[in-house]
Amino acid sequence: MAILKIARMGHPVLARVAEPVADPTAPDIRALVADMVETMIDANGAGLAAPQVYVPKRVVIFQAPPERAPEGLDEAEVFDHTAALTVLINPEIEVLTTELEPGWEGCLSVPGLRGLVPRYTEILYRGYGLDGLPVERRARGFHARVVQHECDHLDGVLYPQRMTDLGELIFESEVRHRIEAERQKAERQKESADA
Ligand code: NI
Repeated sequence: MAILKIARMGHPVLARVAEPVADPTAPDIRALVADMVETMIDANGAGLAAPQVYVPKRVVIFQAPPERAPEGLDEAEVFDHTAALTVLINPEIEVLTTELEPGWEGCLSVPGLRGLVPRYTEILYRGYGLDGLPVERRARGFHARVVQHECDHLDGVLYPQRMTDLGELIFESEVRHRIEAERQKAERQKESADA
């Protein structure tokens, strides 16, 4: 196992469409996934796609805790690596709603930044595990968000390309100011509603 170097925005490997995996049970795929898991945990990421470690294949991994405060800074900074790890090979997403919800995202290939990204709130995803067996799950909220983010990497799409307002692309160190401002705004709205 090894901690791999992570490609950063601008490298062509992040902009291309990745190739399907012919055999999900192949030893080189198992070795790749083992290194991706070690790399993701070392970098404190919630997910990682193979192109991010310079391998243009349709493989993603992610850890989606069942509950996570969408705007909670502490929760946003530290991912729960005890949550079940999912390995998804040749994934496909079926969107189950027209509802999009904005949420703050970061990406190990876009270090130091956060962006407010609209994502579908409910999806069905399918793919294969390392055992070659099919995986099929419905996902909502953060779980649905992380799957959409990681699968975008396989089609050469980074989260800033999904943003509708680049005024919401900010430095990670400033996120707390945005969250505090939003909290105060919500409080003022509540007060005027109560009055
Ligand atoms: Ni990413």
